[in-house]
Amino acid sequence: SLRINNLHKRELNFKFVIIGDFGVGKTSIIGRYTEGQFSTSYKITIGADFALKTLEWDEDTRVNLHLWDIAGHERFGSLTGVFYRHAVAAAIVFDLTRPETYSSVEKWLIDLRRKVHLPGGLPIPVVILANKGDVTVTTLPSQIEDFCKANNILSWFITSAKNNLNIDEAMIRLTNAAIQNH
Ligand code: GTP
Ligand code: MG
Repeated sequence: SLRINNLHKRELNFKFVIIGDFGVGKTSIIGRYTEGQFSTSYKITIGADFALKTLEWDEDTRVNLHLWDIAGHERFGSLTGVFYRHAVAAAIVFDLTRPETYSSVEKWLIDLRRKVHLPGGLPIPVVILANKGDVTVTTLPSQIEDFCKANNILSWFITSAKNNLNIDEAMIRLTNAAIQNH
């Protein structure tokens, strides 16, 4: 029989926060994911930014991802609860070419876990994105696997906003988790 999708579909709205140090590629990842574009020029984010991605998840479900993008130069702990409020998943981004940005991942995680929880009180699902994977780097942070296990991180990915590497995969992983928690 003929099925009119729009009438049948349930619509899920999820807020995801994308955090991490300045210049790691948060805005670029979101731009790649939502616009299919990448630019080599660095336009620093001031305050916070916002983008929407709609996924026709399955025959019955449409998912609207509300991607919140912060200014990485904000100091840890200075983000207000408003930024995190009602977030159901997070990506913490670091820059493979700048090891100090990996050191910050734990601080971002602590800030996040302190400021937002699922309605039932459980921590929100988190992925770590090791970005700029298109640039040749000699060493990956060796502790990342252990760090993920110890800190209840869903998964980590080497990503590239430039080459469109693993961004869809990471967002799908988070969306799956958000749907399960829904
Ligand atoms: P803030 O807004 O200051 O927090 O920075 P951000 O995390 O949003 O970084 P942004 O996306 O603005 O990227 C910073 C710089 O890194 C820009 O020059 C981008 O072109 C570059 N960049 C981002 N992602 C990639 C990537 O995957 N590969 C390469 N080679 N460069 C990237
Ligand atoms: Mg930005």
